[in-house]
Amino acid sequence: MAVIVTDHLSKHYQVHKKEPGFIGSIKSLFSRKYETVKAVDDVSFSINEGEVVGFIGPNGAGKTTTLKCLSGLLYPTKGKVSVLDFIPFNRKSAFLKQISLVMGQKNQLWWDLPAMDTFLLNKEIYQIPTGQFEKVLGDLSDRLGVKDILHIPVRKLSLGQRMKMELIASLLHSPKVLFLDEPTIGLDVVMQKTIRAFLKEYNQAYNATIILTSHYMGDVEALCKRVIVINFGKILYDGLLSDLVREHAPYKIIKIILSEKIDEKKLPEFGETRSYSYPEWEVRIKHENANEIASKILKQFPVEDITIEDPQMEDVIAGFFSANKKG
Ligand SMILES: Nc1ncnc2c1ncn2[C@@H]1O[C@H](COP(=O)(O)OP(=O)(O)OP(=O)(O)O)[C@@H](O)[C@H]1O
Ligand SMILES: [Mg+2]
Repeated sequence: MAVIVTDHLSKHYQVHKKEPGFIGSIKSLFSRKYETVKAVDDVSFSINEGEVVGFIGPNGAGKTTTLKCLSGLLYPTKGKVSVLDFIPFNRKSAFLKQISLVMGQKNQLWWDLPAMDTFLLNKEIYQIPTGQFEKVLGDLSDRLGVKDILHIPVRKLSLGQRMKMELIASLLHSPKVLFLDEPTIGLDVVMQKTIRAFLKEYNQAYNATIILTSHYMGDVEALCKRVIVINFGKILYDGLLSDLVREHAPYKIIKIILSEKIDEKKLPEFGETRSYSYPEWEVRIKHENANEIASKILKQFPVEDITIEDPQMEDVIAGFFSANKKG
């Protein structure tokens, strides 16, 4: 069942354009020039119940704008949006009770008060029955390991602890649809992993539908089978992450630690050497040749250690964008 549908969705901003410098400022007093920014431009997609979709693209691609249209904070310039059969912008309470927008860069917690106070406020706002509130809060704070710090003022918590509390605050009303805008931004690697694991569990436990944006490909790899790639407000790719990788990075990386120096002239025979600095040697080879070349290297050279790795998602995405450059 389709839970989130956009049909030729566009959001354009009119921005005031000023010529540079003092003269420009004076001129703009008399004649204002406007420019249209097509933040989201003719975007159509459909997401089914329980799906976790990664929304990826460089800075300014239109990710946050799309999420704001989906959660009803922005009114589309053109096109249609439907979430759980509601028109988000109407912000009906029956709609708001079933969704949540979590922004890693913004917070809803009261700074000087314990997180628990914000939770209690949300309980009132969303009219969550006491029994359900206690059950969900117990479950979420258990999963995130924050039971002991619910009563400490938020300003005394670490960044990661605060993010966990933000998540709890956003999930207390058990939303069916979650819009996560960079939920792991600024967190250390361990905390990123914790949040990822938690989101995965949440998706499975509540069959929640999730759209996630992140600049950390680790988040996307861990959580999303499907990705939508967007740039300049337009969709460049919508499909399986594994297909995107296979199409745009059909290679593997062999990493070798040598036990003795070798004749460098021989290196080109084995593929594209990405780096060689004794004892480390890194080769990039075609996906399908990986095993054959690895065994050849093992036979011919004094190898202490060898690993075959998939390309880094960061590289795949960077390659994808440079292949799809505008103009
Ligand atoms: N309120 C606004 N007024 C004018 N232009 C805006 C406004 N909000 C966003 N934009 C522009 O719309 C475009 C898309 O912005 P958006 O925030 O959706 O990008 P993003 O993909 O979320 O980027 P990032 O990865 O940096 O968060 C950008 O060019 C941005 O400058
Ligand atoms: Mg953004």
